[in-house]
Amino acid sequence: MLLTREEQRILDGEEGPGKQKAMEILAALGKIYDASRLFPVKSVQVAGVSYSNLGDAGLEFLEELAATGVKATVPAMLNPAGMDLLNWKKLGVPKEFAEKQLEVINAYKKMGIRATCTCTPYLIGVKPEYGQHLAWSESSAVTYINSAVGARTNREGGPSALAAAIIGKTPYYGLHLKKNRKPQLLVNVKTDIERISDFGALGYWIGKNFPGKIPLITGIPSATVDELKSLSASIVTYGGPPLFHIEGITPEALKGIYPKPEEKIVVDEEEIKDARAGITDETGKVDFVAIGCPHASLEEIKFISELLRGKRVEVETWITTSRRVMEMAKRRGYLKAINKAGAKVVPDTCMAVAPLKGRFHVMATNSAKACYYGRGSNKFKTLLCTTEECMSIATGGKR
Ligand code: F3S
Repeated sequence: MLLTREEQRILDGEEGPGKQKAMEILAALGKIYDASRLFPVKSVQVAGVSYSNLGDAGLEFLEELAATGVKATVPAMLNPAGMDLLNWKKLGVPKEFAEKQLEVINAYKKMGIRATCTCTPYLIGVKPEYGQHLAWSESSAVTYINSAVGARTNREGGPSALAAAIIGKTPYYGLHLKKNRKPQLLVNVKTDIERISDFGALGYWIGKNFPGKIPLITGIPSATVDELKSLSASIVTYGGPPLFHIEGITPEALKGIYPKPEEKIVVDEEEIKDARAGITDETGKVDFVAIGCPHASLEEIKFISELLRGKRVEVETWITTSRRVMEMAKRRGYLKAINKAGAKVVPDTCMAVAPLKGRFHVMATNSAKACYYGRGSNKFKTLLCTTEECMSIATGGKR
C-alpha cells in the first residue's frame, strides 16, 4: 500500500508512539488486503468494548495507547459495553466486572471516543450520507449503513476501527470500491415478509445458504428502519456479506447502478418456516425475554409500552437500547408502562455482551442475531418470535 510522505512520517514514529501504533495497524491491514492507499473517513464506530470480550489483555492495550496521549481525529463512537454504565448493580453485574468495564470506557474516552455504547448510532443522530466512506465495526451497523444508506465501510475489527479513528483514514479496499458492491445473487421473495422477526429469518436463510454473496432481494414492497436493521443483523451474522440490496427500497438498487445478477433463487413460505425452525429450540420454559438486538428504536419501545400497558411480566424481560433513545422514550412517557410491568429498558449493553451465561437458560427474542449469540456465547436455548409473542410469553401467556 502506497503511503504519503505524511503517513510515512507517522509510521516512522515522528508523531509519537500512539499514532505510530495506529498507522502500523492500518499499514498491516492495507498490505493483507492489497489496498492501494489510505482513504479519509467521515466517522468511526469502534467495537470491542465489553470487558467480557476484551479481558485484561485488551484493557491493557487500550490503557497503554491512551497513555500516549493519542486522540481520535474524526467523530468516533463506541459499540455496546458489557453493562448499563450507570445502573449496573440493578442488573446484577458483579462489582469486579463493572470496575474493569468502567476502566475500558475511560480509556476510550481519554482517546476522544464518545461513549455512545450502541450498535445503532444511526438512531441517535449519526447520519452518514450516501457514498460517504466510514470505518465502522459492529456487523449489523456496518450492514445497515452500507445497505440502507449506501455509505461505504468494510467490517472493521476493534483495533483497525480504533486506528482509523486516530489517523482519520482507512485502507481503500473491499466495500469502499464500487466494483465490490455489485449484487451476486437475485433473491425473489414470494411470501410475506412483514415483521421484524420475518426479516431476521430471511437474513438467516440467505446468509446460511449463500454465504458471502451480496443479494439483490426482490418482492418486498416496503420495509421500516427496524425491519432493515433486523435483516442487517441476521444476514451478516449467519454468513452473508455486510451488504444487501432490495429492489425499490435500498439506495443503490433504487439508482439501478448495477446489473441484475444471473444466479437466481426463490424464497417462499417454506424457506422462512425452515429458517424460523433453524433458530428455534423446542425445549424448556422461557426464563429470559430479550428485545433490542440491534438496539431498539423509539418506535419499538413505544410499541412494547403499548403491549405491556396494564400487564405484569412474569419472566425477566430486557429491552436493550442506547442511552439516548432510552432518554427520549422516557421524555415521551413510553417507559412508564414498561417499568410498571416490571420489564427493564437497559441502555449501553445487550444480551450478547453482558455477562449472562448461567443466569438464564431459555431465551425468547424477536431477533435472529440474538438467537445466534444466545446459543453461542451464553449457551441459551432460543425461540425466535414476533415482538407480540415475546411480550405474551413475558406476561405469562402463550406464543
Ligand atoms: Fe447490537 Fe448486541 Fe445485537 S451489539 S446487534 S444488540 S448482539
